[in-house]
Amino acid sequence: MSTQLLAEPVACLMAPIPCRVRSVARELDDTFTLELAPPFEGWSFDPGQFTMLYAFGVGEVPISISGDPGDRSRLVQTIRAVGPVTDALTSVAPGDMIGVRGPYGTTWPVDVAEGRDVVIVTGGIGLAPLRPAILHILEHRDRYGNVTLLYGARSPSELLFADELQEWRGRFDLEVLITVDHGDRAWRGPVGVVTSLIGRADFDPQSAIALICGPEIMMRFTRQELERTGVTPDRLYVSMERNMKCGIGLCGHCQLGRFFVCKDGPVLNCADMGESCWTREV
Ligand SMILES: Cc1cc2nc3c(=O)[nH]c(=O)nc-3n(C[C@H](O)[C@H](O)[C@H](O)COP(=O)(O)OP(=O)(O)OC[C@H]3O[C@@H](n4cnc5c(N)ncnc54)[C@H](O)[C@@H]3O)c2cc1C
Ligand code: FES
Repeated sequence: MSTQLLAEPVACLMAPIPCRVRSVARELDDTFTLELAPPFEGWSFDPGQFTMLYAFGVGEVPISISGDPGDRSRLVQTIRAVGPVTDALTSVAPGDMIGVRGPYGTTWPVDVAEGRDVVIVTGGIGLAPLRPAILHILEHRDRYGNVTLLYGARSPSELLFADELQEWRGRFDLEVLITVDHGDRAWRGPVGVVTSLIGRADFDPQSAIALICGPEIMMRFTRQELERTGVTPDRLYVSMERNMKCGIGLCGHCQLGRFFVCKDGPVLNCADMGESCWTREV
């Protein structure tokens, strides 16, 4: 078989589609939400999936989709500038083009969670990959039991989507508990790590599903705390991050134990993961 026959489909899968930036909104000092035109007519995604975003001439990185999965007319992504590619992606202006591949990866188990209580635990920019799941659950609110969002940030000024959080706090069908590592003069809420909120949340540990996204150390302690309350690992889901290159299960860069995070993740079930997938030092 000619290698060209193999190479062409792969090249096609690896080719980013140029998408126009419609708007750029500053969320925090280093974090921006981009709205892009979707790559093509009929494009859609499920909560938890990511795209590979290509800053032309700089490089390509995986970024979770933070928009509403029910709205196919826009591709929304929230990016924290931490290095060359994310710096370039957050420096764009309306009208600029960004290359997009995807959506890729596994999804938050919003179907499995139907009929049950849902506990969503997140820290820092981890709220962005969970936002599509939250919007989906709120859109189909009657399908779920108690829904609780536990969110931790470093300080009140680093709360992502602050206006939306305020709106969600006003809902009678969603419990939102927020904590910060360091308060300020105006902060009247809890101070401490996000796991300290778990005891205050109203959910049935025998049947609830938990969705967890944040720094790996936070996810590890959250998993332990939820297991202590009686939530079994098969009902705990985390979104893992590893460096990626191809994004489609070919290069091996995103290996995590027996998984490739791009293909088998990023959303993984804790029972499937076992202990060996967690970074030892955290
Ligand atoms: C599935 C997936 C979804 C992601 N979703 C988002 C998202 O929604 N929004 C977002 O802002 N970022 C997200 N990331 C992280 C993002 O891909 C990295 O920040 C990006 O690759 C950094 O590239 P860079 O060239 O800008 O910086 P680099 O030079 O690659 O990195 C700069 C610094 O950031 C650190 N770093 C790089 N990647 C990560 C990471 N994944 N986690 C923590 N530290 C990192 C590096 O160690 C280095 O210190 C996601 C990653 C994965 C795997
Ligand atoms: S990024 Fe290449 S296998 Fe996952």
